[in-house]
Formats: sequence, C-alpha cells, structure tokens
Amino acid sequence: MSSLCQKRVIVGVTGGIAAYKIPELVRRLRDAGSVVRVVMTANAEQFITPLTLQAVSGQPVHRSNLLDSDAESAMNHIELARWADVVLIAPASADFIARMAHGLADDLLSTLCLATEASIVIAPAMNQRMWLHTATQDNVAVLVNRGIVVFGPASGSQACGETGPGRMPEPAELTESLAALYGTRALAHTKVVITAGPTHEAIDPVRNITNRSSGKMGYAVAQAAGEADADVVLVSGPTQLPCPDGVHGIRVTSALEMYQAVMNEVSDADVFIGVAAVADYRPVEFHKQKIKKTSEQLTIKLIRNPDILATVAGLDDPPYTVGFAAETHNVEAHARAKLMRKGVDMIAANRVGDVDIGLESDENELIILDRAGAKSLPRTFKLQLARNLIKEIAIRYRAESTNKNSRRAHR
Ligand code: CTP
Repeated sequence: MSSLCQKRVIVGVTGGIAAYKIPELVRRLRDAGSVVRVVMTANAEQFITPLTLQAVSGQPVHRSNLLDSDAESAMNHIELARWADVVLIAPASADFIARMAHGLADDLLSTLCLATEASIVIAPAMNQRMWLHTATQDNVAVLVNRGIVVFGPASGSQACGETGPGRMPEPAELTESLAALYGTRALAHTKVVITAGPTHEAIDPVRNITNRSSGKMGYAVAQAAGEADADVVLVSGPTQLPCPDGVHGIRVTSALEMYQAVMNEVSDADVFIGVAAVADYRPVEFHKQKIKKTSEQLTIKLIRNPDILATVAGLDDPPYTVGFAAETHNVEAHARAKLMRKGVDMIAANRVGDVDIGLESDENELIILDRAGAKSLPRTFKLQLARNLIKEIAIRYRAESTNKNSRRAHR
C-alpha cells in the first residue's frame, strides 16, 4: 500500500520559476493516492495560473488573500490547516523561507504554516547564491530546528544561467521522498489483529441488540497499521465500511463470533487492538420465530459475553494489547481502572455522549494510558488520529519486544 494513499496534502506554491513543474507534482501525488489541495501565494500566480492547478488537482485552488469571503466560506484557513496531513511547500522561495522563519502570517500560506499541526516539508528553489547566503542558511536552520523537513535543493544548471545548488528536486523525486517520509514501516514484520464496529446480538430472526458504533475508528486504525507495513487482520462487526486496501478482513455478526475469530488469529499476533464496541450481553435465548406482541410487557433475559480484550491480555504469551474505552465522564480515572482490570498494555480513551466527537463522528480525540503515564492525542480526523495512535503503539511495542528479546524469535 502506498504510504501516500489517502494522505491529505496541501501543496503550497510560492513565487519561483520551478512553479512550472507543480502541475506534474500534483498529478504524481494524486497518482500515489493523495488528495491534493493547492494554496498559491500572490507571486506564484506570476509563474503559473490557478486554473492550471485547479484542473490538475481537481479541487478549487486557494489563493493568497486571507480576507476572501468566498474562499473562507468554502473552507476557511483554519479548517484547511486542520484538514492537512502534510503541507509541502514547493517551490519554497528564499523570501517565503525567511517569512516562515520569522513566523509571519500575512497571507494564506504563511498563516496555514502557523495554524497547522500537520508536518511541513519545504522544497527550496532559488538562485545558488541566494541559497548559499548566510541569511537563507540561517533561516533554513531555524526551520529545521522546528522540525520542518527540507527536500533538496538539487545542484545543477539553473534557469538564471548559473550552476550550483538551488534547483527544486524533480516532481517524481519529491513524491518518492514524501512517500518514504510517511512509509516509516514502524510495524514492518508484525501481525496486528484489530476488532472494529458494533456487534449484533440476535433476539429473533428480525431483531437484535446493538449499539451506535460506526466502525470508522477501528477501520482507520486498520488502515494506519497497514500504512505502517503490518500484516493486518481486521475482525469487524456489521458496518457499511469497505475493508482498507491490503488488510485481511473477517466479517462477523455477534460477540461470540468475534471472540472465535479473534482467538483463531491472535496466537501468532504481535499486537492486538480492540476497537470494537462489543456487546457486553446477549439474549440467553434466541427465538427461532419472530416474537409476536402478545403481552403488555416483555422481558428478555441477557447473559454476559466473553471479554475478548481481557481474554487476549490473559493469554500465556499475549501480544502487545491495546483496549479502547469510551467514557461519558471521569475519562482518565475510568480508563486507568480499565487498564488494570483488563490487564492490558495500553488503553486509548475518549469522551462520548454530550460531545460532537466519538462514536459516529469523523473526528475524535484520545488520551492514551499505559503503566508509565498518560498522553493526549488531540482532536483530528479519525484517520490522522489513528496514524498518531499507531506511532505510539509501535514505539511501545518495539521497546517491549526488545526487552523480551522479540516475541517472534521465541516462537
Ligand atoms: N471489549 C471486548 N470484549 C467485550 C467487551 C469489551 O473486547 N466483551 C473491549 C472493547 O473492544 C474495548 C474495551 O474492551 O477495547 C473496553 O470496552 P468497554 O465496553 O468500554 O468497557 P467495559 O469493560 O465493558 O466496561 P464498562 O462497560 O463498564 O465501561
């Protein structure tokens, strides 16, 4: 699976002759599966038209004016900043690099760079003397120290007739570098089993007990684990969602079926992540025929379902086990109690109920807890949050498996 698949990329175009290569960059990013939105500075428009970039990106181009009410009503600059997984500024001019280094926010692209939590990558392009100037070098050093990634510049003959460093890397190379940056392969050579969605506990042939889980978070976690190069098995209750590319999906209906499917898969798993909203109880009796409304009151007797997460955590040689906790109040305290009660390595907890995130929403936020402490993963789109979570899980799993001399080596 390409690590750029479904990545939301903002391509920020600043004023430089290399801007003529940006349509090809946008096309290559889209070919790799990314969704691309283009933001142009006013100077960029001297080199290439917004119409060209709109045509190749398939999206309206965001122009430099921060106070454009039409553009702001479509997707305002803060929404755009939150939308992005990565902001790739190509070409990045000497002037724009200087403005970033000083934190200026006088047009859309510079404002985005301050407002976004996404990774920022710059691909500088300028005359070689400008690139080698101490001012530019100092500015780039400031950006690098802030965690901004720099691609290039390449050396060679320049549009101005000089030869030296300052050429923007070719679009194919930029796309490959971006893919490599995200294809961290943090979970390469691991098997990850994930549960997702609700379960349906049948009462009779037409009725069941279920809950409001959409499965979106579990599917996002499966996709993120696949992007990190794990072999992913997704055991899913009934949902409308397609199985992510490259993920082995197993569809189940009830908690007992989910339990069985997980037990079949988990013995050689390195990581288990229970995201499913498993029904805690099922009807004792399944009525083979539809129940008719004969009496004024009807009592359905329920019996506890097995706890899949606790069972996995209790295995003799358990995988690194992560549970989810959806809580309406005292999130951290309840989640910590769950961590201990279920004997798991990590709990990812979120608040549900009176807030507009969680179960059915496209966004979520999490607090992750393990025995060492707690960490917040701030609110964002579920796929981005899942990627952030997978990073945290991979770090802890790798640390633990090094301590254990690798589970896999023991098998
Ligand atoms: N879980 C599970 N099997 C169950 C119930 C829950 O694997 N039968 C897993 C869920 O996938 C989730 C975690 O346990 O990872 C937390 O589930 P939750 O229902 O919130 O917690 P409970 O232990 O049921 O506690 P409570 O309902 O009291 O909050």
